[in-house]
Amino acid sequence: MTRRPLLAGNWKLHLGPGAARSLAAAIAAKVGDVAEVDVAVFPTALAVPAVVEALRGSMIGVGLQWASPHAQGAYTGTNSSVLAREVGCSWLLAGHSEVRRDLAEDDARVRSSVLGGLDAGLLPMVCLGESLEERRADRVEDVITRQLAALYDGLPADRAAVLTLAYEPLWAIGTGETATPDQAQAVHALIRGWLADRFPAFVAAETRVLYGGSVKPSNAAELLAQPDIDGALVGGASLDAESFAAIVNAAR
Ligand code: PGA
Repeated sequence: MTRRPLLAGNWKLHLGPGAARSLAAAIAAKVGDVAEVDVAVFPTALAVPAVVEALRGSMIGVGLQWASPHAQGAYTGTNSSVLAREVGCSWLLAGHSEVRRDLAEDDARVRSSVLGGLDAGLLPMVCLGESLEERRADRVEDVITRQLAALYDGLPADRAAVLTLAYEPLWAIGTGETATPDQAQAVHALIRGWLADRFPAFVAAETRVLYGGSVKPSNAAELLAQPDIDGALVGGASLDAESFAAIVNAAR
């Protein structure tokens, strides 16, 4: 089966509602009606309603960058998947390395957030990846399989198949340094093989594994041409409508 490419923009803590609305409208004008690939953007939570509004009528989905596993209640300072759904999100990002680093999110919390997202009807996109030290110590496989095991433990195949993964080597995020297509493909193949060993064949066949880490118009086509790379999670280059549209078009 062929997996539909998915291109996602992670806007991180950039752009308040006004600037996010403008960027969303500019992206929609360029690729809002693209039917052969899926496109999604992750604005800051405060800008989500403005972006949902700007993208209404387009094919572009919107997601929350982080969610508590709880639906609602006495959890000051957090956001939930249930409320994200209510304001029009379809996606949930989980396990981004900046959240793991800055908010002490560990594998267990990533998993709870993902389960909360599934329960709320969101499509979780889960980030994994190794640090530079781990790569140098030849521990890539250990790290990736540990993250996969924690995420998928006990998950039934029909729920597992809903997840999207994003392989984001930490040393390539925001550094301008990209994994080579061969380096990325090797990890993507490892991930798909791991899924194939543990679930019925449709899970590995259907799961989209995106690459993230300094993806830009000049390197997108090469990365996306790899057999196990099904799209990209784009940080810096997604903040410019022209660059992001060029990356989306590279996947068509
Ligand atoms: P980058 O960020 O494209 O700026 O490296 C990717 C990400 O953090 O998702």
